[in-house]
Amino acid sequence: MNSPENAAHLPGPPLSGEELVARAQAAAAAAYAPYSKYLVGASVLTNDGRVFDGVNVENAAYPLGVCAEKTAMAAAATAGVRPGEVAAVGITASPCGGCRQWLYEWKVGRVWFRRADGTIAEYSSAELLPDTWDLPE
Ligand code: THU
Repeated sequence: MNSPENAAHLPGPPLSGEELVARAQAAAAAAYAPYSKYLVGASVLTNDGRVFDGVNVENAAYPLGVCAEKTAMAAAATAGVRPGEVAAVGITASPCGGCRQWLYEWKVGRVWFRRADGTIAEYSSAELLPDTWDLPE
């Protein structure tokens, strides 16, 4: 699911923000969320046009579950993607506080997500976490 070649059922690049959220929505069908039943998808678009999808993966020990944004970013990292190389991320829901710190770490250019009221929001990762904590130089 994490390369354009084997993701023929998902919209592929070039992707607008709305299309990236639509792709995340399609990816969300694979979420493993037996406890919350809340399926989340996230799709990472790199500057060179690659797309990596992620879903939330829950665990019977609840705090060990992982958010969709993190699994998508981890998939990108596994392929060698590094901070500054992510053009945009599409998410099916507003990112939680911890995921905002991840999006900031990866210097994601634009973050698109579907609000609870159905409208689409667009921010930079820095806007989502003002006065962000960073490791001291
Ligand atoms: N979840 C995400 O995947 N991303 C977020 O930014 C917010 C929450 C997941 C975690 C859990 O599996 C489910 O949504 C309910 O909290």
